[in-house]
Amino acid sequence: MRKKIVAGNWKMHKNAEQTEDLLNELIAKIPTDTDTNVIVAPTFVNLASAVDHLEFTNIKVAAQNVHQAEGGAFTGEISADMLKSVGVDIVILGHSERRAIFHETDALIANKVNTALEHDMTVIFCFGEELKDRQSANHFNVVENQLKDGLFQIEAKDWEQVVLAYEPVWAIGTGETASPEQAQEMHEFIRETVRKTYGNEVADTVSILYGGSVKPENAKEIFSKPDVDGGLIGGAALKADDFVAIVTAI
Ligand code: G3P
Repeated sequence: MRKKIVAGNWKMHKNAEQTEDLLNELIAKIPTDTDTNVIVAPTFVNLASAVDHLEFTNIKVAAQNVHQAEGGAFTGEISADMLKSVGVDIVILGHSERRAIFHETDALIANKVNTALEHDMTVIFCFGEELKDRQSANHFNVVENQLKDGLFQIEAKDWEQVVLAYEPVWAIGTGETASPEQAQEMHEFIRETVRKTYGNEVADTVSILYGGSVKPENAKEIFSKPDVDGGLIGGAALKADDFVAIVTAI
């Protein structure tokens, strides 16, 4: 049985006070009996307080990034050990904004994945094509290469700690959501790509999330598709009522 997951990527939003306010709203409104795994990813400075705030809830906390080194002269960076030391054991890696804005390559992302797994963290591995790739019908190749070059170095046993997040870049923050049919088509391709390399058990148990302009009004139809196991939510995660509506849409 695959895990149903809805994760909120807060990106560079919410200071300490705003984080506490949003978490209090989520604690009050997210159903305690949901079998959906709910995750929030505040910014680094708010992770420790978020972990403390959510200690007795069903909401988990993820980091939005991690450095690949164990420690050292890397001004401004955060190590896996530091995240674990404040109770964070989930990390988002490979997000298109890390790739595009901060020039993270597949090879660098692969190193970060290895470090996170070595620290027994769960990795939410993000990938997805740009509009030009889809317009030139190259999107399947792009997605396959991102998986093979950034993630397929791991062993079969590591997949218990991996969640896949397909985020077509052209749908992120644009309001241009992939249609449920487009999402299902790509998610099925992703699952079959995993199956070819890792076999049925891994392919049939890995959760594949969709991300890219998921909103309360479109979540239910997207999540109803057989190979969509939830969502990685950006803008809608910053408003409690919208995020709760998406969590309950599965
Ligand atoms: O990581 C999730 C994010 O990239 C999606 O953003 O605002 O399109 O939901 P948004």
